[in-house]
Amino acid sequence: MTFERAPVVIGHRGAAGLVAENTLPSFRRAFACGVGAVELDVYALAGQLVVIHDETLDRTTDGTGTVMGQTLESLRALDAGGGWPVPYLEEVVAELPAGVGLNVELKGPGTAAPVADFVARFPDVDWLISSFDHAALADFRARDTASRVAPLFSRWRGDPWRTAAALSAWAVNLSVRAAAPEHLRAARERGLRTFVYTVNDLDTARRLIDEGATGVFTDYPDRITAAALGGPG
Ligand code: G3P
Ligand code: CA
Repeated sequence: MTFERAPVVIGHRGAAGLVAENTLPSFRRAFACGVGAVELDVYALAGQLVVIHDETLDRTTDGTGTVMGQTLESLRALDAGGGWPVPYLEEVVAELPAGVGLNVELKGPGTAAPVADFVARFPDVDWLISSFDHAALADFRARDTASRVAPLFSRWRGDPWRTAAALSAWAVNLSVRAAAPEHLRAARERGLRTFVYTVNDLDTARRLIDEGATGVFTDYPDRITAAALGGPG
């Protein structure tokens, strides 16, 4: 299973530093770089899971306004980079190579139920479901007791171990600033993996892996590869 073959290089929003983020060409580029997994952000809109990061359209498309204010037709008419539309999650799954994991971040409101339904349709995919919204992740967990989940933490505050335990989490996904060596070590002692975002510098990636991180999210999967991190490549 790909998330278990450490060190894991996760293409962030595809290969966001190389090709317009969260577009099909960006995911293809990440696959071509040999990533172990890709990460993407989802919203539930009119019965579809759509792949986009911000709650507004302005930064990543030629549209304006909110994602949730769109119809599927109006969203799909937008250019998300290179003339490509905002993809459906289903389109990314259709192109996912065998042996490459898929980390879905619950971003928009009301994504837990549709993502649980979606995951159930694709039992062969190596899923990791994550979110900063730990209530949404708990909602997902109540609907799917088997898939791997990982709460996201941008800062080390509250009681992340308690949050992880309540979710029966498989991993904790940490920002670089939250990924202190003692937290990476403690996670390992608790049987939790750690994936650290967003790491675009090879030296930093190597240090984090040395300190015990299981993997890193990167916008540049061409420069940060499993082989460069001492893995099997
Ligand atoms: O999942 C890691 C990372 O994607 C979380 O932050 O803002 O890039 O979605 P963000
Ligand atoms: Ca994300």
